[in-house]
Amino acid sequence: MLTLGKIILDLCGGTGSWSRPYQEVGYDVRVITMPEYDVRTYIPPKDVYGILAAPPCDHFASSGARWWATKGNLALLEGLSVVDACLRIIHVSRPVFWALENPIGRLRHYLGEPVMYFNPCDFGDPYTKRTCLWGRFNMPATSPVEPISVCKQGSWIQKMGGKSTRTKARRSVTPPGFAKAFFEANQ
Ligand SMILES: C[S@@+](CC[C@H](N)C(=O)[O-])C[C@H]1O[C@@H](n2cnc3c(N)ncnc32)[C@H](O)[C@@H]1O
Repeated sequence: MLTLGKIILDLCGGTGSWSRPYQEVGYDVRVITMPEYDVRTYIPPKDVYGILAAPPCDHFASSGARWWATKGNLALLEGLSVVDACLRIIHVSRPVFWALENPIGRLRHYLGEPVMYFNPCDFGDPYTKRTCLWGRFNMPATSPVEPISVCKQGSWIQKMGGKSTRTKARRSVTPPGFAKAFFEANQ
C-alpha cells in the first residue's frame, strides 16, 4: 500500500479516532481540532488526499432538539460556521475522497440528504447512534452485530447523559469499527 506523503485531514477530529487507521499505516494524518486548531482559520496544505470531518453536533442533533428554541439563532450560526469551514477546506483542497459526519438532526436541512446513514452496530460496535454521512467516498462494507440495550432509549451511549465536556467528548468518539471499515474502502 503506497501511503507515503498522502495527507489526510481529520477536521474537528477530537481524539483522532476516525483517522487512526490511516495514521497506523503511515499516512500523513493531521488532526485539525480545538484547542490547538480552529477550522475556521485553518489554511490547508497543498495536495490533500482525503478529508474526514466531524464538526460538533451540539446545535444540530435531534437529541438536543428541546433546547433549540432557548439556545436561539446565535448558537445555530456558531454551529454552521464550523460546518461551513469544513466544507470550505474540502472545496479548496479537492481531495480524492471526503466525508462529513453528524448524528441525525437538523443539519440535513442545510446540507441536503446524506449519502448514507449508519449505526455503530452496523460496523461491529454494539450500540446505536444514528449517524449521517455526506461526501464523496466509497461505501464502507458493513459487519453488523446486535446492539446491547441497557435502557429504555436504547444503548449505553444514550444513557451516558450529562453535559460535562468529558462526557460529551466520550459520546462523540468515532466508533472504531466504522473507522476501520471506512479506511478499508477509501485509500
Ligand atoms: C463531534 S466532536 C468529534 C469527535 C471525534 N469524532 C472523536 O473521535 O474524538 C467535535 C470536535 O471538534 C472540536 N471542535 C469544535 N469546534 C472546532 C473548531 N472550530 N475547529 C476545530 N475543532 C473544533 C471539538 O473540540 C471536538 O473535539
